[in-house]
Amino acid sequence: MDNTTNGLILFGGTGDLTKRKLMPAIYNLYIENLLPDNFFVTAVGRRDKTIPEFANEMKEAVIEFSRNKIDEAKWNEISKRIYYYRMNFSDNESYKGLDEYLKVLDKTHNTNGNKIFYLAVSPDFFGTIIDNIHKSGLAKHIKGYKRVVIEKPFGRDLSSARELNKQIMKVFKEDDIYRIDHYLGKEMLQNIMVIRFANTTFETIWNSEHIDHIQITSSETMGVDERGGYYESAGALKDMVQNHLLQFLSLIAMEPPRKIDTESIRNEKVKVLKSLDVYSDDEVNKNVVRGQYGSNPEYKIAAYRGEKRTSDDSDTETFAALKIKINSKRWKGVPFYIRTGKRLAKKGVQAVIEFKIDHKSNYHELVDDIKPNQLTINIQPKEGVNFRFNAKKPGESNDIIPVNMDFCQNCVIGYNSQEAYERLLLDVMKGDKTLFTRWDEVEYSWKFIDIISRNWQKEKPDFPNYQAFSYGPKKADELIERDGREWVNDF
Ligand code: BG6
Repeated sequence: MDNTTNGLILFGGTGDLTKRKLMPAIYNLYIENLLPDNFFVTAVGRRDKTIPEFANEMKEAVIEFSRNKIDEAKWNEISKRIYYYRMNFSDNESYKGLDEYLKVLDKTHNTNGNKIFYLAVSPDFFGTIIDNIHKSGLAKHIKGYKRVVIEKPFGRDLSSARELNKQIMKVFKEDDIYRIDHYLGKEMLQNIMVIRFANTTFETIWNSEHIDHIQITSSETMGVDERGGYYESAGALKDMVQNHLLQFLSLIAMEPPRKIDTESIRNEKVKVLKSLDVYSDDEVNKNVVRGQYGSNPEYKIAAYRGEKRTSDDSDTETFAALKIKINSKRWKGVPFYIRTGKRLAKKGVQAVIEFKIDHKSNYHELVDDIKPNQLTINIQPKEGVNFRFNAKKPGESNDIIPVNMDFCQNCVIGYNSQEAYERLLLDVMKGDKTLFTRWDEVEYSWKFIDIISRNWQKEKPDFPNYQAFSYGPKKADELIERDGREWVNDF
């Protein structure tokens, strides 16, 4: 298989993801000499525009969103490989035209028939596009590989996800399907396995004997911005928990893989998702809290219900907090608390592993004020690891204070870490699927999520229930506090 040539076909070429993430990623890969020599990208969109107009818009997007400054000469080089093809995604005939167009580009750029179809569109179009790719035979040519990248959310629930998967499998083999979860492309998420398994100190105590609980937080200060239309049908549970946060949790909780290869890693992750203790109907309310932000007059911030394309009496949650149990020997009795929300007080993604205080130790009996050890894995904006332990307070007293050992990966001046989408695009080109979700992972995540959304539909929530730029609803604090624990808001 020839991975050194690539034609990337971006459905949703005029969308937000292309502008904010994909085109800057392509530009950064190019200036770092990571793109194949034979490469082109065709954006496919519904809007009417010429190729130069499109390229110009992309240039503006790169200027605004790229982590590296734009270099005019380099941009001029890469822009010669950027194309735009206008068509209606539901019109089967247009796919034939697209096929002819791609044949020409394939010859011009010597891409050997290798194609990546990237569906950066609203989930409503996934099925239609896949179906039309199928009917038009666009993915059938014998020469070259044909891969498909599907953005999230993969389905709205288990049954629609199964349906979508069936549709895709008619056209592509599992081996050629890349279900993207951009959290997996984040540098520090990839670091979790190394931190755990390459350090005897951590791995030997990474279990219920030593860990009190684990908390995972993904907190955003942004609201829904221009994405109200999409968000109304998703909400925090489907937008963040079903995918990003459960993937994050599976990396924290998995057993060591038998080998460092794609399937062994995925096999261990899926075992975690399979062992999630699915709530009964009665347990949902006890273990899951939903919230929606209200306004904040002090900062002139509108409530979610006042955002563009949201309804005035919307029941969509912009916050979710869950207490999760994993049914396994390693995690017996260890709660995982996870939370995510928009328009919260601070921006940050992290996992905190809190260790037990050793009550069997004589020393602990003798002194007060011992704080539990905490290992914090910071994903963003700070990237690194922090370990909190106890030490003697300097001076005459014998007081004990918690101190921190801090490894900050991105505190080095000039550190400019690769964006998740750069890594993931490169992996699709190389054919490496380790950082993409396998179908069974998606399936087990939905099994866990479905029961929550089903129960939520039964009752109208009392929204809004948290103020923009706060730490979320009071009930989320109660969820953890009733167990004698508290959220760590230091991120
Ligand atoms: C996306 C969600 O998948 O992830 C967004 O759809 C969310 O709602 C985003 O804002 C968060 O990603 P990041 O990389 O900014 O933490």
